[in-house]
Amino acid sequence: MQMAAEASSETDLNDLPPPAPAPVTLAEAIAMIDRQFGVEKLLADAGKQVVEPYYRQSVLVYEQFYEKYLSVPGCMHFGLNPDGQFSRDGFYGQARGVRTTIRNMGNVKRVLEVGCGKGLNTIRLAGTHPDISFTGLDLLEEHVHKATARSTDLPNARFVQGTFEPIPKPLRGADLIFGVETLCYAQDLDAVCQGIADSLTPGGRLVIFDCFREDGKGPVSDQMRLATRLLEVGWGVPAGYRSAEEWSAALQRAGLKMNWVHDETQNAMPSVRKLQGFAMRFFGDWKVRMQSRILPDLGRRNAVTAILMPLLFEGQPDGPDATAPGVSYMRLVARKPA
Ligand SMILES: C[S@@+](CC[C@H](N)C(=O)[O-])C[C@H]1O[C@@H](n2cnc3c(N)ncnc32)[C@H](O)[C@@H]1O
Repeated sequence: MQMAAEASSETDLNDLPPPAPAPVTLAEAIAMIDRQFGVEKLLADAGKQVVEPYYRQSVLVYEQFYEKYLSVPGCMHFGLNPDGQFSRDGFYGQARGVRTTIRNMGNVKRVLEVGCGKGLNTIRLAGTHPDISFTGLDLLEEHVHKATARSTDLPNARFVQGTFEPIPKPLRGADLIFGVETLCYAQDLDAVCQGIADSLTPGGRLVIFDCFREDGKGPVSDQMRLATRLLEVGWGVPAGYRSAEEWSAALQRAGLKMNWVHDETQNAMPSVRKLQGFAMRFFGDWKVRMQSRILPDLGRRNAVTAILMPLLFEGQPDGPDATAPGVSYMRLVARKPA
């Protein structure tokens, strides 16, 4: 099973016709989005609770495109390529980061992954840590079924359906809790952080890989704020992204101590640029747009997030529309005092 989880597809983006050139500025990207989706129409959905319909309507996009052409089977997150070169191995970068924390901690017995999706990270880690018991928790029953089916040969991994808002009491007692691109969906930040703190054993760790609203890299333009809102609508993040500072403050209010906050944005750039190439096949080719009509609305909206990601991560250093980035990709590590 581990092998199946790791196997790369034979297919990759080079098998598709080349994409139209990517937009150079946010203004160009927003104009393209406006033509195909209507910016006002998208913004009308801001704040709506659409997490479950978003993932249900995106199954084809994830499984027939993202996993097949770009990432690896079961993957629902960005890749991390610290050397700046895209490779599919980058999609195991978050699991590698969690493994480092496991090693540093020593004596870890129970690990809980919140928002585990189809189990890629937990399956990867459970395969290399047979003495540790892993539990994956996800809101969607479909994800839990797929993760379970992919891990039948791993007696130390199990997957359960439920929300992390708050973490169910039977799952308390974890030495390490981690979440990859999922805790952004938290609605009540303090309640979620308290639930995490209550579920960790003394001395336990929390590792988060996620997007955070950027507010420390300089002035953010109105256009960048609009693009960030469109990203949140596209991914159904109801309360909007919070900054790493907001997360750190909420975790500390819950009694945790911050270990470090590490900016992984540059490591995510190679995969988000590839993702943007996907989007350009949609925005740049009417035939692809016709074909995509079979997709439900929330599934098609992945084109909106994909075209924006590199621009949101990089900002615009020069010119009349200069702006700091709107979003960063970070790793946060916190600990519960022993
Ligand atoms: C972007 S996917 C990431 C999945 C997985 N962590 C990975 O790295 O492949 C986000 C996941 O979070 C789950 N999710 C969203 N809100 C949740 C909640 N309140 N409780 C548990 N899972 C949630 C979704 O169902 C989805 O599987």
